[in-house]
Amino acid sequence: MGKPHIRSDEGTAPKGASYSTKSFRAALPEPIRSKGRPAPSSVNPHRLKRRRRARFGRRGKGKVKAVRLIVTGGAGFIGSSFVRHLWRERPDWEIVNLDLLTYAADPESLAAATAASPKHTLVRGDIADADLVQSLFPADAVVNFAAESHVDRSIVKPGLFLRTNVVGTGVLLDAARKFGVGRFLQVSTDEVYGSLGAEGRCSEETPLAPRSPYAASKAAADHLCLSYHHTFGVPALVTRSSNNYGPRQFPEKLIPLLVTNALEGSPLPIYGDGLNVREWLHVTDNCRGILAALERGRPGQVYNLGGGEERTNLEVAGEVLRLLGATAPLIVHVPDRLGHDRRYALDSAKALAELGWRPQFSFGEALAGTVAWYRENEGWWRRIKSGVYREYYARMYPSCVS
Ligand SMILES: NC(=O)c1ccc[n+]([C@@H]2O[C@H](COP(=O)([O-])OP(=O)(O)OC[C@H]3O[C@@H](n4cnc5c(N)ncnc54)[C@H](O)[C@@H]3O)[C@@H](O)[C@H]2O)c1
Repeated sequence: MGKPHIRSDEGTAPKGASYSTKSFRAALPEPIRSKGRPAPSSVNPHRLKRRRRARFGRRGKGKVKAVRLIVTGGAGFIGSSFVRHLWRERPDWEIVNLDLLTYAADPESLAAATAASPKHTLVRGDIADADLVQSLFPADAVVNFAAESHVDRSIVKPGLFLRTNVVGTGVLLDAARKFGVGRFLQVSTDEVYGSLGAEGRCSEETPLAPRSPYAASKAAADHLCLSYHHTFGVPALVTRSSNNYGPRQFPEKLIPLLVTNALEGSPLPIYGDGLNVREWLHVTDNCRGILAALERGRPGQVYNLGGGEERTNLEVAGEVLRLLGATAPLIVHVPDRLGHDRRYALDSAKALAELGWRPQFSFGEALAGTVAWYRENEGWWRRIKSGVYREYYARMYPSCVS
């Protein structure tokens, strides 16, 4: 299998995209309605349901004929990468991107996409706001990335995770049920399976055993999606990926934390003995898998998307230091995360068999590309790290703050 060329920044314009000077739009749903669509109150949900289903069911040349997609959380790390991926791969699709623009969002990462494609509209708002969510329909499909996504923060403030990840997903599902969609794809995580020992991998049949408030909230959302499929016929499906990495990831997550700290010459905090194992997946591979599941996945099904390459946290830190030519004394062991899961590993055979998906990036090469991106884009992460992030960091890693 040929490896793709690794660019340090994956965003390029689709061929033939028409450029406009229109800047990034952060607006309420008005611009969407103004595109000649009927207001939701005048929509006949039953007729729409049939039309949307038919459109998504048709597989001309392997591509779904969707024209209007609601993406939630599309200003975050994976969601914005997915929007840019669609912009290259499905330039005709109209994307309505609903994002609350929390601390984790990076709307600037979409500015180029929006300038190049008038078919992308960012709506600032909450997935748990039912009126707002319903005003965005009709749609051919929904891909739900929106979430509180950091385990450490879920230990500090679990309630926020329940509201966004569980209640918010429920609100989206209710709207999808009411208006009818061709597909509802829930973006989930390997963490729902819980912690593994040194051996074995989790398949989609493995019972869920989440052990952090974050993982529990994601597991609840997965169950909700599958229950709406079973009970109401909502064509929902779930992807569960392993740990993602790549450009523009918020520096609270392990790889950008290590890289940016090493670039600053600051200590690299490692929880406990550093032997917790994660399976790493480049964000572009996850986006490819999500699109494949959206177009070719079966409603009611779950698809694991694992990167296939396991590393301990200490090994990741060592590789980052080697790539930057820095030295191991920068590593500082800090008290372990509460309830820290030891190992995650996915069996992704079903995604290969049914979706034809397998990761294309190797961890070694793609980590080098990722490190290069952070090295070349210091302004991006320094801006984040100079703000409220400093307080968060001092609270999480007091022994690493001088
Ligand atoms: N990062 C990973 O390694 C990983 C791995 C597997 C699965 N996932 C899942 O993928 C999804 C995206 O993860 P990410 O790393 O890009 O997260 P992220 O934290 O970078 O982005 C989350 C986005 O959701 C938005 N958001 C938060 N609350 C919202 C709300 N109430 N309404 C609307 N938008 C809201 C934020 O503003 C942000 O733009 C999440 O569902 C996460 O659980 C992440």
